[in-house]
Parts: sequence; structure tokens; C-alpha cells
Amino acid sequence: MINIKTILVAGAGTMGQGIAQVCAQAGYKVFLFDVQPESIQRGLLAIDKNLQILVSKNKLKQEELVDIASRIKGTETVDVPADLVIEAIIEEAEAKRKLFAAIEKVVAPSAIITSNTSSIPITQLAATLRHPDRFAGLHFFNPAPVMKLVEIISGVATEESVMEKLKLFVQSIHKVSVVAEDAPGFIVNRVARHYYVEALKLVEEGVASPEEVDALLRASGFKMGAFELMDLIGIDINFSVTSSLYNGFHQEPRFRPSRVQQQKVLAGHLGKKSGQGFYKYNKD
Ligand SMILES: NC(=O)c1ccc[n+]([C@@H]2O[C@H](COP(=O)([O-])OP(=O)(O)OC[C@H]3O[C@@H](n4cnc5c(N)ncnc54)[C@H](O)[C@@H]3O)[C@@H](O)[C@H]2O)c1
Repeated sequence: MINIKTILVAGAGTMGQGIAQVCAQAGYKVFLFDVQPESIQRGLLAIDKNLQILVSKNKLKQEELVDIASRIKGTETVDVPADLVIEAIIEEAEAKRKLFAAIEKVVAPSAIITSNTSSIPITQLAATLRHPDRFAGLHFFNPAPVMKLVEIISGVATEESVMEKLKLFVQSIHKVSVVAEDAPGFIVNRVARHYYVEALKLVEEGVASPEEVDALLRASGFKMGAFELMDLIGIDINFSVTSSLYNGFHQEPRFRPSRVQQQKVLAGHLGKKSGQGFYKYNKD
């Protein structure tokens, strides 16, 4: 028995929306929290739109959509009766730590608290918690409703029973879990880093344009080119992850973040979510 019925998803951006949808589709009651009320509204609308698409493809019945939507509630406070917290706010350790401190004050002692961080060490995030033993990484991939894999990461203090419950939880939302020890980038982001870093180097050195690199990568069998993928992920998030790995591995040159990418972040060209990244998007 995992004793999880209600989930607090903190952060209603790209990942929070998808995670909330996945959990509600699996039958859980979900509270979707964000510091920006408009993000909550955007998140709920995006989930509804995604579910409508499933209905139009006959993958979901209209009654099921109504049922799933009724299980997701927006909230402007973290003071909700959650058995599991999945944090998916911006990739900044300090912001996450402040949020965990607020959450720890209000959730039940039995609640499990997790972070969807792509690259901040779980042990570091756990260090300032009052109960680091109930804290772990729960790393979904983008888009969460589609991608099957979830990495479960234990910090040095994470209790084994928490890891076991999280494995059962991942199974219950019809995903596949892989357990990773706490290391920079865990497994997938460390392996994938070179896909982005080398593609950015090609552009920085003037060898090829983002369009040319992407076309060649797609022609060689990749589902998406590196630049399309960075636009989907969010260039700010991707840049933070590379910076974290670079610092996590004591400035190893092979993980050095790109100036081209940094400039995009400074310009606010964050990819699909901002309407412009390496490519331009219609914001609807
Ligand atoms: N984008 C990806 O492909 C991807 C994949 C896996 C994991 N992640 C991780 O998931 C997390 C979220 O990434 P995202 O792409 O969804 O980001 P995003 O920029 O799309 O959304 C972040 C959301 O967090 C909210 N927020 C910021 N500070 C907050 C706070 N203090 N309290 C509550 N909400 C706050 C923002 O208003 C925004 O709605 C990050 O840790 C990221 O590393 C991202």
C-alpha cells in the first residue's frame, strides 16, 4: 500500500502541467500550485486542451475528460492535504529550498516530498529540510504525458521505504522508473548533454546554422534536432542544467555552457513557451 491519494504539484509551467495531467489521469486528486496565478490558469487550460485532443483522437471519452478535469484544482497556497508533493518550479536551488521550507510546515509528517529538478543535487536540496529522509528526486521527461521514463533519485538521507513507495507510485501512473544515485545530471541529462553542447558549438563556430544541424540530425534518425529540442525544453532550463553539470563536475570543459545559449536566455528567447527561441512560434 502506498497510501497516496492526493498530490500537490508545485509549479504550473511546462512540466507541472504535464505531471498534474498524468497523475489525474491515473486517478489521483491533484492540487496545482504556482506563485503566479496566471500560470495556474494557463496550466489548467493547457491540460484541458491536451485532454480534448485525446478525446478528438478517440483515446479518451468525454465523460472521462470531465472526471479527470474534476480531480485537478488550482491552488494559490501549498497548505493542502497532500500525501505526495512533486515540485516542478524554476531550476534554482534557493527558490526550491524556500518552497520546501514552506511545504514542510504544512504537510503531514507522513507525506513524501520530491523534486523534478533536472540537475540540482537531491542531497543539496534535502540538506535544509527538517526531514530529509522523506525527500527524493522524481524526474519526469518532457512532455510528461508522453514520455514513459521517470528517474527516481535518492539523496544520502533518503529512506529506503520512500524509494520503494515512489517505485510503486511511478508504476501506478503507468510509467517506467529507473533508480539513480545522486550525481550531477543523474543518468539521462548527463548522457544527453553532449547532444546539446556539441550542436551549440557547431553554431558558435559558424560551421552550420541551427536549421542545418537539426535537419541533419533528423535525417540521421533522431526524432528531433538539438535546437528544436532545446526550444521544447525551454532554453533557460537547458542552460541551467548545463551550468549545473559544468559546476557539478568542477568545470570540466566538456560540459562548458554555450555563449549562444546564454545570449538567448538574456534576450528572453526561451523557446516554445516564450514564442521565440532558436525558432519562432505562434503562441497559441
Ligand atoms: N522543461 C523540461 O524539459 C524539463 C524536463 C525535466 C525536468 N525539468 C525540471 O522541471 C522544473 C520546472 O521546469 P519547467 O520547464 O516546467 O519550467 P517553466 O519555466 O515552464 O515553469 C516554471 C513554473 O514555476 C513557477 N514558479 C517559479 N517560482 C516559483 C515558486 N517559488 N513557487 C511556485 N512556483 C514558482 C513559474 O511561475 C512557472 O510557472 C525545473 O526544475 C526543471 O529543471 C524540466
